[in-house]
Amino acid sequence: MRKKVTVVGAGNVGANTAQKIAAKELADVVLVDIVEGVPQGKGLDMLESAPVEGYDVSITGANGYEATADSDIVVITAGFPRKPGMSRDDLLLANYEVVKTATESAARYSPNAVLVLVTNPLDAMCWTAHQVSGFPRHRVIGMAGVLDTARFRTFIAEELKVSFENVTAMVLGGHGDTMVPLVRFTNVSGIPLAELTDQTTIDRLVQRTRDGGAEIVKYLKTGSAYYAPAASTVEMVESILKDKKKVLPCAALLDGEYGVHGLFVGVPVKLGSKGIEHIYQIALTASEEAALQKSVEAVAELVEVLKQKIG
Ligand SMILES: NC(=O)c1ccc[n+]([C@@H]2O[C@H](COP(=O)([O-])OP(=O)(O)OC[C@H]3O[C@@H](n4cnc5c(N)ncnc54)[C@H](O)[C@@H]3O)[C@@H](O)[C@H]2O)c1
Repeated sequence: MRKKVTVVGAGNVGANTAQKIAAKELADVVLVDIVEGVPQGKGLDMLESAPVEGYDVSITGANGYEATADSDIVVITAGFPRKPGMSRDDLLLANYEVVKTATESAARYSPNAVLVLVTNPLDAMCWTAHQVSGFPRHRVIGMAGVLDTARFRTFIAEELKVSFENVTAMVLGGHGDTMVPLVRFTNVSGIPLAELTDQTTIDRLVQRTRDGGAEIVKYLKTGSAYYAPAASTVEMVESILKDKKKVLPCAALLDGEYGVHGLFVGVPVKLGSKGIEHIYQIALTASEEAALQKSVEAVAELVEVLKQKIG
């Protein structure tokens, strides 16, 4: 039997995620959106490219959750994206309601699914989905680190004029301005980045990575990035569905790891059929540790706002 993935939110990130899942023949896909006709229309349009592209999966769209029953994975992209001048945190309260409603319904129909959160502000939305679903922590995962490292890898490869594939990078922390690109764990085919370029260049690439989302928002004006976010989400989906056990930076609920309790923070995890199968704790230098703590504090502030709202 084929695997089944529900993608909630048939907007830019959701539709591209659905299309990539189908193109890789990873699973049957159900697209859900509140706007009538949009998930149905986009789903049918994707299905009609199956004979040309040569994939055999079903893609359907719906405004409710009945058709999503017994999904292996539910990807939540529903919500508002950023506009120029907005930070991800500005989306907090509006997207809280969206993610809460979507998670409640999706979890009811697919109680054994792995939830992959994409909606921003990412770490606070993961916290919301975990609270609402009551799922164990290994089945609630946030997508941010794969995208942030993809951006860092892109900028490094362009700068050094080497293959994108050869660059491995690591970004920890929350998905925001305080994210922590870890230069010490970043290399080109095993050669540490610091051996290949000077500190001024590294600092510039790190800052561009931190501002990577805003750079695209500034160009697009009416929304935020979606091709690389969708590709990053699909890498996580694939690792879970195929039990590949890829080690990827993802937002995970920490329970003492890195000295953090009860917050979602980006850390390296092993992704397999059970969801998060291991959280890797790496020894950090004093300055890396301080940067991570600053990022954790930024996540904690948003979660505190949500806790006060819930009362
Ligand atoms: N984690 C990341 O790295 C990352 C990267 C890119 C985008 N994002 C976030 O992903 C979200 C989606 O971005 P986008 O560009 O696809 O936006 P979009 O506006 O193109 O799509 C959002 C979709 O959600 C739908 N929606 C709204 N409320 C809903 C509900 N209650 N149930 C179902 N669907 C609902 C909307 O109708 C719309 O189609 C944003 O919050 C954005 O900030 C996160």
